[in-house]
Amino acid sequence: MRKILLRLRVNGAHHEVAVRPSATVLDVVRDTLHLTGTKRGCDMGTCGCCTVLVDGRARLGCLTLAAEVEGCEVRTIESLREGEQLHPLQSAFAECGAAQCGFCTPGFLMTCSALLSRTPTPTPEQVKDAISGNLCRCTGYTKMYEAIDRAAAQMRTEPAREPELSSREAVSGGSR
Ligand code: FES
Ligand code: FES
Repeated sequence: MRKILLRLRVNGAHHEVAVRPSATVLDVVRDTLHLTGTKRGCDMGTCGCCTVLVDGRARLGCLTLAAEVEGCEVRTIESLREGEQLHPLQSAFAECGAAQCGFCTPGFLMTCSALLSRTPTPTPEQVKDAISGNLCRCTGYTKMYEAIDRAAAQMRTEPAREPELSSREAVSGGSR
């Protein structure tokens, strides 16, 4: 099968990968780079489990060709925490009980991190709109709203975060 060579920047690290022309960002981060925190749910753009950041914007990994993101900065859930310190969203989700099975959680966290980085004080409508493409089959969404509010409040009191450059897995992104 024909393969193409791509140069990708993921979580601050450069990678050269040989992949099928039809390979998606989700295929590459999970199957080639073994960053399995990003989850494959529906694989058709409806659940949001595969959300990653591309140049700071939330994108569905299953609908984005890897070839499209050459020259972009891709960030996965593994880059969310800073060293041993969880991102405020990760802490807030844990403290508020906003995750049950956790399968959807990496996608929610990446979507919310993109929201809070450009909208530090989102209205409830903005939060609702931002996570409208992320589905959770376990929880009601009430605890997630609480967690997002809590994280936003904490982030407003902290200096701006630099993204973590390591590829170590985040707490919520460790299981397949
Ligand atoms: S796996 Fe991408 S939206 Fe469901
Ligand atoms: S916590 Fe299980 S799908 Fe969301």
